[in-house]
Amino acid sequence: MASTIFLPLALLAGLATAQTFSVCDPLNATCPANAALGTTLNETFTASTTALNLDLWNITSGTTAIQFGNNGAELTLTKPGDSITVESNFYINFGRVEMIMQAAAGQGIISTFDLLSDDLDEIDLEIMGGNTSFVESNWYGWGNLSQYNALYHPVNGPQQGLHNYTVIWDAEQVQWIIDGNLARNLPYDKPSLYPQTPSKLKFGIWAGGDAKAEGTVTWAGGKVDWSQAPFTMTVQSILVTDASTNTTTYTYSDRTGAYKSITSTPGISSAAKTLTKPASSSPIASATKSWNGLSRTSKIAIAASVIGVLVLIIIAYSFVCVVQRRKGRAEKRKADEAWEEQMNELSVYRAKMAKGGFAVSHLGHGEKF
Ligand SMILES: *[C@@H]1O[C@H](CO)[C@@H](O)[C@H](O)[C@H]1NC(C)=O
Ligand SMILES: *[C@@H]1O[C@H](CO)[C@@H](O)[C@H](O)[C@H]1NC(C)=O
Ligand SMILES: *[C@@H]1O[C@H](CO)[C@@H](O)[C@H](O)[C@H]1NC(C)=O
Ligand SMILES: *[C@@H]1O[C@H](CO)[C@@H](O)[C@H](O)[C@H]1NC(C)=O
Ligand SMILES: *[C@@H]1O[C@H](CO)[C@@H](O)[C@H](O)[C@H]1NC(C)=O
Ligand SMILES: *[C@@H]1O[C@H](CO)[C@@H](O)[C@H](O)[C@H]1NC(C)=O
Ligand SMILES: *[C@@H]1O[C@H](CO)[C@@H](O)[C@H](O)[C@H]1NC(C)=O
Repeated sequence: MASTIFLPLALLAGLATAQTFSVCDPLNATCPANAALGTTLNETFTASTTALNLDLWNITSGTTAIQFGNNGAELTLTKPGDSITVESNFYINFGRVEMIMQAAAGQGIISTFDLLSDDLDEIDLEIMGGNTSFVESNWYGWGNLSQYNALYHPVNGPQQGLHNYTVIWDAEQVQWIIDGNLARNLPYDKPSLYPQTPSKLKFGIWAGGDAKAEGTVTWAGGKVDWSQAPFTMTVQSILVTDASTNTTTYTYSDRTGAYKSITSTPGISSAAKTLTKPASSSPIASATKSWNGLSRTSKIAIAASVIGVLVLIIIAYSFVCVVQRRKGRAEKRKADEAWEEQMNELSVYRAKMAKGGFAVSHLGHGEKF
């Protein structure tokens, strides 16, 4: 009975807390503050995991395509047009991200995670499904697509087993560490030439080989052969540490995009509250407790009104589902286009590379492709 009460309440809460987020570039506008992680998030996924915690994660594409198995969260593409994108609802302002994951196999299939800020600073890791010996790191400052910062790093079979991809990010450097070895070190530079603003974590899988731009297809390793589907990226665990604790939000105090311009508001972040919520104060537990304390008459009265509310909720929910399905299609198209747009610079990059013009700036340390 307790779960009958819980169901409509949970649905109502879910609908009421759904918020619309306005995309805003802090270099050109005064934007809403970024919700901070303000703590460490340590999640390991197993076959008994039922879902990603939607208080922490926003699945912006491919909601139903994430399942859980012995090795972790399985993000699976089965047909042309599929893509899966998960974004954190929180930001970190420097810190550390460790993903233990197995990339999807399959020519043209890209498994990826990145850190992305509102002024489009970006720290990336991208794994081509058809390349069993190299993975790519990349970064951008201010979303400047004239920058060519991709580098490739040897990894033995990124699609054949779990590997440890760790990014350590502070005001001095960004380090990409793969299976315990430092693969890349990017030293601090001025804003626009070094990622330094509060960033969300985004991860997912998409069909780079099905992109419209030929350069993207080449970069991805060729066209996707869907007869080889399903293509599954497996994420066993995600460990994210925000460099700041006791922080609820991050705000750009000016339009320089410099890390020194970021101010934080002290307090317990909503992510930290979510993560420390004791099991005993869960809505099910407290509903059960109150329910048991009630008289029989009250129970009947409550049951009657709950059934009434339930009927209303089912009607409202069916309506929302129809709307969501329509919205879902539109959003997915948008997400695909965004991924593709993000990848389009690679055709230019390839062209430059072919001409030998890539050895210009920020490639650092004589790493080779
Ligand atoms: C989740 O992402 C979608 C699409 O980008 C966005 O419209 C929505 O506001 C996001 N939700 C939250 C809670 O940030
Ligand atoms: C914001 O400003 C930067 C730097 O002036 C510019 O490159 C970028 O296009 C602007 N973005 C928007 C959305 O206007
Ligand atoms: C993260 O959780 C795992 C087990 O779930 C534990 O072994 C590990 O020590 C934790 N790491 C940190 C940094 O808390
Ligand atoms: C894997 O990537 C490296 C680095 O870009 C490249 O040299 C190699 O040819 C690629 N292999 C395949 C099979 O695409
Ligand atoms: C974008 O990057 C290119 C290459 O580094 C640089 O020449 C250009 O000035 C940058 N643009 C902005 C707006 O920072
Ligand atoms: C992953 O690599 C990082 C960096 O070397 C290391 O600190 C961490 O312990 C590794 N995680 C696991 C689960 O081995
Ligand atoms: C968080 O910061 C506020 C303001 O600086 C301070 O008063 C409070 O004691 C801090 N709380 C914790 C748990 O550190």
